[in-house]
Amino acid sequence: MKKDFTILGIESTCDETSAALLKGGKVLLSNVIYSQIEEHKKYHGVVPELASRAHAAKIATVIAEALQDNPIDCVAFASGPGLPGGLMVGRVAAETLAAYKNVPLIGVNHLEGHLFACDFQNGEVQNRLQFPLIALVVSGGHTELWYVKNYGQYKVLGKTRDDAAGEAFDKVAKLLGLAYPGGPQVSAQALQGRRDAIAFPRPLLPGTWEFSFSGIKTAVSYYLRDHQQVNVPDVCASFETAMVDTLVTKTLQAADKYKVRYVAVGGGVAANSLLRQTLQEQAAKRGKTVYFVDRKLSSDNAAMIALAAYKKLEYAQTTGKPLRANIDINPNMKVRSW
Ligand code: KG4
Ligand code: ZN
Repeated sequence: MKKDFTILGIESTCDETSAALLKGGKVLLSNVIYSQIEEHKKYHGVVPELASRAHAAKIATVIAEALQDNPIDCVAFASGPGLPGGLMVGRVAAETLAAYKNVPLIGVNHLEGHLFACDFQNGEVQNRLQFPLIALVVSGGHTELWYVKNYGQYKVLGKTRDDAAGEAFDKVAKLLGLAYPGGPQVSAQALQGRRDAIAFPRPLLPGTWEFSFSGIKTAVSYYLRDHQQVNVPDVCASFETAMVDTLVTKTLQAADKYKVRYVAVGGGVAANSLLRQTLQEQAAKRGKTVYFVDRKLSSDNAAMIALAAYKKLEYAQTTGKPLRANIDINPNMKVRSW
């Protein structure tokens, strides 16, 4: 690929409308993110119909702002997994632009994007990821553990059986009357609470790499039902600790089992300070390195989509294998090796 090969990335899978320009697989020229949080706040969660309308309303201006007058060589968009309406808006915008500019169109997996986001630091791609690694992709819609042999070489070890970790934070926040999105709110309250105040369960599901967070959430709801006087910071601190213990324990067990020295953590919940600190400390004790996504790129963004597309193109070019363009949207898209 030529040195200044520039990709326009587009992201619209959930509640962020975003467009980004990545030059030479390295420099982020722009990364415009419009968050729909205000639209969804009063419902304590993402309302798909509102999300589609907000994507449709914003996508043109977000793309125009990201593009400015820069030339582009390719358009990439997240073709799944995600909400069908948002995916459709992203595809139509991406395909129209690619046809107009006469450049190729590539669909990428949004979850792969969350992993690749770990490679950005201060707006530049570091190419710092070492393989094989265990990836923990932990967001409002997904919680998955992967063994990643190299760029584009995945084995999905396990997923959540019920709630995603971010979803559990959001639901517990709602039970406590805290605002949406719940993760940052619960985390802020937890700073004033005692982490060992209430013994919420740690569902480790031995023998599998799956997660299950609905039991912790239910335990919180029973606790609230059974207690007249509730210390909200104590509930938040105890809940957050149970969530983090579960995520950290399983991730490091997987790293041990697969004899892997590197771990990467991406997705909205990767912004959680307790998760970052606990995983960092426990991994260091075992001689392992953790790549955390920069907080600025932990939530949904198009920079990660552009980078995933760049790596995919580079892979096809260096191996001579056909590029899977994946432009049909798929709300339930699974992660597949290239
Ligand atoms: O990756 P993301 O922006 O959207 C999805 O693809 O789902 O993740 C959003 C999720 C929300 O559930 C939010 O509560 C959670 O990430 N989140 C956090 C924190 N910041 C965001 N969860 C725990 N602690 C945080 N600091
Ligand atoms: Zn996401």
